[in-house]
Amino acid sequence: MKINFNINGTATSIDIADANTPLLWVVRDLLGLKGTKFGCGKAACGACTLHVDREAVRSCSYAIKFAEGKEVTTIEGLGDEKNPHPVQQAWIEEIVPQCGYCQPGFMMATAALLDKIPNPSDTDIDKNIINVCRCATYYRMRKAIHRAAEISQINTEENG
Ligand code: FES
Ligand code: FES
Repeated sequence: MKINFNINGTATSIDIADANTPLLWVVRDLLGLKGTKFGCGKAACGACTLHVDREAVRSCSYAIKFAEGKEVTTIEGLGDEKNPHPVQQAWIEEIVPQCGYCQPGFMMATAALLDKIPNPSDTDIDKNIINVCRCATYYRMRKAIHRAAEISQINTEENG
């Protein structure tokens, strides 16, 4: 079965035997984008979070057939070293990662949150960022989420 979708802004077509294959495995194994991680495989930990049409999605539990015609963004498409997304910049400034494994998922979940709530309160963060970090970097993450909101605000003001 052919599935057509955009990945990080580029039109992509894949031929896949099982249309129920999780998007995570298409992204990692067929497209070679290894930034999105496998944790629990049960939509519980958030390590596999990416965006589908700007919504945070747990890709281990999202069948590729549902991506038809959609825009998929992974951590590789969020920003790069020259033009980091405010979330990536804040994560660097606050030196958030420890082992780093869970971090792409957290950053994607945070970017989607800031899209909806540009200046989230601690309660908004607690309610929406429910990924799991085995290294318990939650304190630095919270600081980085607030910092990312600040950076976004500054960028918006500078760009008029
Ligand atoms: S691997 Fe998808 S939520 Fe844990
Ligand atoms: S930084 Fe190690 S699991 Fe989160």
